[in-house]
Amino acid sequence: MDLELLRRLSNAFGPPGAEEEPREILRAEIEGVADEIRVDRLGNIFFHHRGESGSPLVMLAAHTDEVALLTTFIEETGFLRFHTLGGIPAGLLPGQRFVFRGREGPLKGLIGTKPPHIMTEEERKKPPEMEALFVDVGAESREAAEGKGCHIGMTGVFDVGFTELGGGYVRGKAFDDRAGCAVMAVAFKELRDSPCNIVAVGTVQEEVGLRGARTAAWQADPDYGLALEGTFAADVPGSSPHRMSANLRKGPVVTIADRSVIAHPTVLKALMEAAEAGGIPYQFKKIPSGGTDAGAIHLTKAGVPSGTIAVPCRYIHGPAAVTHIDDLENTARLVRAFVERISGL
Ligand code: CO
Repeated sequence: MDLELLRRLSNAFGPPGAEEEPREILRAEIEGVADEIRVDRLGNIFFHHRGESGSPLVMLAAHTDEVALLTTFIEETGFLRFHTLGGIPAGLLPGQRFVFRGREGPLKGLIGTKPPHIMTEEERKKPPEMEALFVDVGAESREAAEGKGCHIGMTGVFDVGFTELGGGYVRGKAFDDRAGCAVMAVAFKELRDSPCNIVAVGTVQEEVGLRGARTAAWQADPDYGLALEGTFAADVPGSSPHRMSANLRKGPVVTIADRSVIAHPTVLKALMEAAEAGGIPYQFKKIPSGGTDAGAIHLTKAGVPSGTIAVPCRYIHGPAAVTHIDDLENTARLVRAFVERISGL
């Protein structure tokens, strides 16, 4: 696994509805080996590999968007009010750095709160409410903020750079789902000479309701669907074994069921057999919450047998996540082995 690719994808700016940066990184990475590339009207990017006719078409999907803030109001005092695009717990936001795309280019900001010194006893005990939070861009008035390029509708993402922690561990923002994007690129390139028929899609707007995957699957009309994700690992202090859902370094996380899909038995069987035949470690997702692009893909047209595999990542939907290179590599190996097996190889 080329960590440089994950670094570029993680650092890219891609709130829901504005996924151009991660999309173009994927394009540059894959275009040399794809038989056809196309971007649709919503911004989904399709990479086709044409194999033997008669072989089923397998759709891989990794979403290019990330959780973000949407500016909804600029106070007369220059502070920004916001809503979240995708789920970010309010408790994770105070003190976090964000970078926005203003009219004049990138614009830095910090989530501010009332100082603890002036909070009432009651306020100090409670976690912050989203309503109480605001962004400080360093402006003393609405005019000054607008002068810096702030506007209603301006979006921002966590301002956290990708870092290697040593020992194969990496830290960065948006591993949900840039980890899946990196895995998709690696697997697609490894399958460049295979007789399989593949359409790999960098989808848009997953975090706000699997929206890009819905129209992408309709267009691609695949025989099978596999969503590639970065999913939560809760192998942290205070978490009991049955609540950990997934652990780092235990391999790709296979979904049996979540809120959006029940993995199709044919897909689930192929995933398990491919892993076991290839000696690839894997684990099952043990908390059936969350949803993935497979939720939209499997309900397309007359139905598409689908499943999800994911790179286990700690702290997703927060400022930065932690994962391990072994899990990235093993997830890419399982994608490749699955595509071959479901294609009858
Ligand atoms: Co995701």
